[in-house]
Amino acid sequence: MITLNVDLGERSYPIFIGQDILGDPTLLSPYIAGKQVVVVTNETVAPLYLEKTLSGLTDYQCETVILPDGEVYKTWEGIMPIIDRLMQKQFDRRVTLIALGGGVIGDMTGFAAAIYRRGVNFIQIPTTLLAQVDSSVGGKTGVNHPLGKNMIGAFHQPQCVIADTNTLNTLDERQLSAGLAEVIKYALINSREFFTWLSDNMSQLVQREPEALAYAIEFSCQDKADIVAADEKEAGQRALLNLGHTFGHAIETALGYGNCLHGEAVAIGMLMAADLSVRHGWINNDVQQQIGALIQKAGLPVSVPVDTDARITAEQFLSLMAGDKKVLDGQLHLVLIKALGQSFITADFDIDKLNETIKAFATA
Ligand code: NAD
Ligand code: GLY
Repeated sequence: MITLNVDLGERSYPIFIGQDILGDPTLLSPYIAGKQVVVVTNETVAPLYLEKTLSGLTDYQCETVILPDGEVYKTWEGIMPIIDRLMQKQFDRRVTLIALGGGVIGDMTGFAAAIYRRGVNFIQIPTTLLAQVDSSVGGKTGVNHPLGKNMIGAFHQPQCVIADTNTLNTLDERQLSAGLAEVIKYALINSREFFTWLSDNMSQLVQREPEALAYAIEFSCQDKADIVAADEKEAGQRALLNLGHTFGHAIETALGYGNCLHGEAVAIGMLMAADLSVRHGWINNDVQQQIGALIQKAGLPVSVPVDTDARITAEQFLSLMAGDKKVLDGQLHLVLIKALGQSFITADFDIDKLNETIKAFATA
């Protein structure tokens, strides 16, 4: 087992990464303050991993909340079954919530923990690749609004993160690829060496070769932990983690939550960032093609899908991006690419070139 640390002073916490560590009471119990626990999961993950998780919690008064599965349920109303159960059971401020599932369950459970009695503890047990490399680390919690992705939320750090890589064996191929988008993101943000490693090892990752997956998860978590430790509340450099996200969130919202997976939308968004960077002359076509080739090798889309009825127009792109959290004082900030392994945050881009990029990717 590998242990990494997110260094946030008195709110520091460990990330445990290993095989078959789910439900290990020695990992869980040091991070549960009281006697009350609520495990939140969904109807897909529950039959796979709930029993094993509960086997590590026999010493606690333990409740289980099983939510419906899907990004479409990541709403204000969607977290009410968690709050309702906490209220019905009169659970006190020492209760610990445990998020068992992918990023949707992690974001919803973390947000419920952030607002119940003005904040209670929670633990992340991520079971998708995306959640193990990104969403379970860093304390961003929240839900979607019909007009914008992740627009209601709070920063609320977990007590610990327990990533059992064995859980990835039951993930379907499309979801594994969605997680690989966020892994590629770390390479594009700040590591040319990791980009090269990914280019050499993408087939092994797609085939779930355990050593390759373990390295990719460790690298990604360490990178995220370092960025979060330096800028917890996104006053500056943490915004680099949003590479591809402003474009991607517009795609997810316009196509209807769940139609284009978050990781898929981020992959297309990273290509849009590359496209815009080429139009500014910051990178050349060759770099954009290398990024596109890696995304494709990961089994991810390189254009907005048109296999559902939903479409995204250039106007929708612009209006959804204008409502994104990355707008500051009315000015849109984007994460763009200077070189392979070197991204930067800027509001200083040419609006005509942005329009050209958007037109190239709009589907209506
Ligand atoms: P998800 O939570 O919807 O999980 C994907 C699918 O896999 C679901 O159907 C889920 O039930 C299923 N699943 C989960 N674990 C499984 C397993 N081990 N075996 C089989 N099936 C399993 O999606 P996701 O990609 O994990 O997360 C996406 C969400 O994360 C988005 O809402 C996104 O906004 C959010 N996110 C948050 C952050 C953050 O910092 N908080 C970062 C990135 C993404
Ligand atoms: N996924 C972006 C962040 O955690 O900041």
